[in-house]
Amino acid sequence: MRQTILTGDRPTGPLHLGHYAGSLLARIELQRAYDTYLLIADLQALTDHADQPEQIHLNILEIALDYLAAGIDPEVATIVVQSGIPELAELTGYFLNLVTVARLERNPTIKDEIRQKGFGGDIPAGFLVYPVSQAADIAGFKAHLVPVGADQLPMIEQTVEIVRRFNRIYGAILVEPEALVGRVSRLPGIDGQSKMSKSLGNAIHLSDPQDVVSHKVMRMYTDPRHFRVEDPGEVEGNVVFTYLDAFETDRGALEALKERYRKGGLGDVAVKHHLIEVLERLLAPIRARRRELARDPERVMRILREGTERGRAVVRRTVLAVRYAMHLDYERQPRAETEPTQAIEPPR
Ligand code: TRP
Repeated sequence: MRQTILTGDRPTGPLHLGHYAGSLLARIELQRAYDTYLLIADLQALTDHADQPEQIHLNILEIALDYLAAGIDPEVATIVVQSGIPELAELTGYFLNLVTVARLERNPTIKDEIRQKGFGGDIPAGFLVYPVSQAADIAGFKAHLVPVGADQLPMIEQTVEIVRRFNRIYGAILVEPEALVGRVSRLPGIDGQSKMSKSLGNAIHLSDPQDVVSHKVMRMYTDPRHFRVEDPGEVEGNVVFTYLDAFETDRGALEALKERYRKGGLGDVAVKHHLIEVLERLLAPIRARRRELARDPERVMRILREGTERGRAVVRRTVLAVRYAMHLDYERQPRAETEPTQAIEPPR
């Protein structure tokens, strides 16, 4: 039996190099070996952007363009839009009974995000429970493997807990998923301060034009004590080298470059120019394909429509089994021989 991949992205802005290294590259490499579903999580995006529905809607097409331009093949992988599958919201409702508020508040990614977004005490309830909706995304597709960046590991952990709890109470119906983290699980932003993030404005987007990429690389954080070209420089914690580690495919050349930088005699500008070349090798074809695809948005919408329909059929099957297992099909007749009607024990 072929196994299933499900993973997704919130349409809060275009995808960036962190997405690519952490998860998108793995999806592209695995799309032919697995039944692959990519979910554009517009409902999840609304959990902290409730007041920007038009923007979220517009970004759906942008994410789809990023997927296709980066190498997702719609003939083998299925792109689905979360809001087009209302059964996912239904499943979320059932799962909410299987998780405590205390557990939700302990999720380290949620904690980070609450701090980052400055919610203070005013956390939208939907935001706190989005890991449950994400569990529904994963379990609804009965996914075995979830390629994600390291920040999403707590979500997969919580999904496994919910799935186990569900299977114990209602019968073994759902699949326990596993996370797959890319070789580069957490790419820092160009400021070197934190992870690359749309909301922090420190990202290089897959769709950035060449001059924007160059400008961002030239602004990158390096070794603050590396003043003159002759000075020995630090490679560790130096964002330019972190990016080269992630994207330079010629490992030998990279090691030689690091050696020269450490010894002294290699300037930041030269290393940055090299990084720009390495990134252009990756991004130029993506940019070209994106431009091509963007000329025919109707075609992209068709891919989304057909994908969402196929995906919905998969989730619908899961939810039917879930309803049956949860005795939520009130019209079901108990079969006299095998299933004697049983009164529910009154609470003591
Ligand atoms: N939380 C993910 C992100 O912020 C997006 C997402 C939604 C997702 N549903 C998912 C990821 C299911 C993996 C599986 O990028």
